[in-house]
Amino acid sequence: MKTECTKYTIVINEWDTLKKDILRINPSATFVLVDENTEKYCLHHFLDHTDIPVKIIRIPSGEIHKNIRTCELVWDSLIRENADRHSLLINLGGGVIGDLGGFCAATYMRGIRFIQMPTTLLSQVDASVGGKLGIDYGGYKNMIGLIKNPEGVYIFTDFLKTLPYEHLRSGFAESLKHGLIADRKTWEELSAQKDLTQLDFERLVYNSVNIKKSVTESDPFEKGWRKILNFGHTIGHAVESYWLEKNEPILHGDAIAIGMISEAYLSYRMGKISEEELFDIRNAILRLYGHHPRMVKPRNEILRKMQHDKKNHNGSIQFALLDSLGHAYYDAPVDDMAIAESLFFYEEKM
Ligand SMILES: NC(=O)c1ccc[n+]([C@@H]2O[C@H](COP(=O)([O-])OP(=O)(O)OC[C@H]3O[C@@H](n4cnc5c(N)ncnc54)[C@H](O)[C@@H]3O)[C@@H](O)[C@H]2O)c1
Ligand SMILES: [Zn+2]
Repeated sequence: MKTECTKYTIVINEWDTLKKDILRINPSATFVLVDENTEKYCLHHFLDHTDIPVKIIRIPSGEIHKNIRTCELVWDSLIRENADRHSLLINLGGGVIGDLGGFCAATYMRGIRFIQMPTTLLSQVDASVGGKLGIDYGGYKNMIGLIKNPEGVYIFTDFLKTLPYEHLRSGFAESLKHGLIADRKTWEELSAQKDLTQLDFERLVYNSVNIKKSVTESDPFEKGWRKILNFGHTIGHAVESYWLEKNEPILHGDAIAIGMISEAYLSYRMGKISEEELFDIRNAILRLYGHHPRMVKPRNEILRKMQHDKKNHNGSIQFALLDSLGHAYYDAPVDDMAIAESLFFYEEKM
């Protein structure tokens, strides 16, 4: 299954195409970036199917390693192995490997080519598409980075078979978001799911990738329309950053689930969605993600995190909100009072 982007190809479940494309790129050397989990569960699939000589670069897994020190490990390995401008880096892993590996590739010798091979649901339905690369810095998520497209994105849904359930659920949050901002039918179908292990992943990934691709292609550098993808993320990122800094990291999708409930509240408060729609969204998300009021208790600190968010403009906090179920708008300024109220809405279970 293939979906053509203007700049690069996204291929789903086609090993032959991957092999052919690497041969066509004809790199001077091919590096594969893995963490201990993708080395254990995914690397052998890649080696068996492609039969291409590669050098492996290993980094430790997890968001706490998505930082400049891990980049140094990657750059040092590339230098030690004499990687040159014609080398290729394949990022075999979740969003952390994709964001960090892409960032390392895009900056090594002013940029070498790279391929994204996402192995988590989150990276398959979202992170690998759109060219955003980067690392966390100074206690803030994705503070340092750039936007650059890979040579291609090669998705294999079989990788999901070894993915722990909480990571499946985390990735599913992005697909729910895609439904909420762009396709009401997708939201209705996905929000009714009971067992995430039984999903038709090829179809789920294909739908989400197409939504993300069409939004990012129309506005690659986030000047306008692409901002709708930030729905759930202004509050979600602040919650995620707060707990990351506290050394109690929570999964990206779990934070986004909290963010989507709070930001649905803001959409309701703006008069854009009905009370019934708000409660449908809240109930569906709580049913899948549980209710974790403790996560939003440090309201002032979370607000402070938002004030540092990259999406701010002229000092006011700008949100992407729903203007109806299945459609979003962006650059909605929201005052601190309303944000605090929206966190309170999440915290309270009525
Ligand atoms: N660039 C973007 O547009 C974008 C979009 C959304 C999220 N992100 C970023 O993505 C990151 C989160 O990504 P993630 O949720 O994939 O986390 P992750 O990369 O940390 O992967 C989650 C865990 O699953 C393991 N794993 C990966 N594939 C596996 C497999 N097939 N089987 C078993 N275990 C496997 C990993 O080793 C890790 O422990 C965050 O840093 C977030 O900021 C980026
Ligand atoms: Zn996200």
